[in-house]
Amino acid sequence: MKRDSVPHTLLVATLLCVVCSVFVAGAAVGLRPRQLANKQLDQKKNVLIVAGILDTDGIVQQGQLKGKAAKSSTINQLFEQRIQKRLIDLKTGEQADPKIIDGETYDPRAAARNSEWSIFIEPSEDLAKIKRREKFAFVYEILDSEGNLEQIVLPVYGKGLWSTLYGLLALSTDGRTVLGITFYEHGETPGLGAEIENPTWRALWSGKQLFDENGVIELEVVKGKPSPDDPKIKYAVDGISGATITSEGVSNLIRYWLGPDAFGPYVQKLHRQWLGEGANDG
Ligand SMILES: Cc1cc2nc3c(=O)[nH]c(=O)nc-3n(C[C@H](O)[C@H](O)[C@H](O)COP(=O)(O)O)c2cc1C
Repeated sequence: MKRDSVPHTLLVATLLCVVCSVFVAGAAVGLRPRQLANKQLDQKKNVLIVAGILDTDGIVQQGQLKGKAAKSSTINQLFEQRIQKRLIDLKTGEQADPKIIDGETYDPRAAARNSEWSIFIEPSEDLAKIKRREKFAFVYEILDSEGNLEQIVLPVYGKGLWSTLYGLLALSTDGRTVLGITFYEHGETPGLGAEIENPTWRALWSGKQLFDENGVIELEVVKGKPSPDDPKIKYAVDGISGATITSEGVSNLIRYWLGPDAFGPYVQKLHRQWLGEGANDG
């Protein structure tokens, strides 16, 4: 075959394609465990941030390691010391049976796409606009230095204007008072919807109440700034100006995930335990 013939050119091009695709596929498969480990490390870091153990620059804020920049080993160490990750059945709020589901390998996002591991949400109830939700979800229980429950962190997500907003909400052990919120993944516009990441806006959430005295969800992101005399101020977070749609998305996803169809049973159980009535109700 002549070097400058058409069949030779096609042969070389085909061989090159095959060799390159083997390299790309090999790299994708070979790097998958590392990608997964990085993803898990990132999630641990986000949980530590919303719990106030790390700041957003990755500096440790509490305990013996205070002031230290958290490398991966520190993040793993802090997570192991302070956080209990549990998989719960959202229908009951109880811990999932490890015989049915393996918490080590469970992927909530994959579960939400799988009809066997998720439920369909009626459009009229789909406040977070996610169509389906996984049957089982992780909760992160934050322990103090004596091993007592200090706060809980719940993963929440739902549609903003352009994208799905993925966040974590930290609650007090009363199951009602917000301690913090963080959004670690979204595609909203920088300077507008992406202000959900802004520490100043996130700080407005601390101390807000989720439910009224009857357990009905009241918390919402309001348009503008609520008046200090507003009797509902404890349930109101200032909206982000120029980003009303993202702000409403945040309100709605919180209302869905803390409502009766998602974390409601878990959070209400926590509240009963906090009131001292939970000793006999499992
Ligand atoms: C280029 C562009 C990007 C925008 N990005 C966002 C966004 O990320 N989130 C959002 O709620 N609104 C965004 N908006 C504005 C919305 O279209 C809408 O006007 C706004 O949510 C209304 O909020 P306001 O009532 O506070 O002005 C964007 C508008 C433009 C032109």
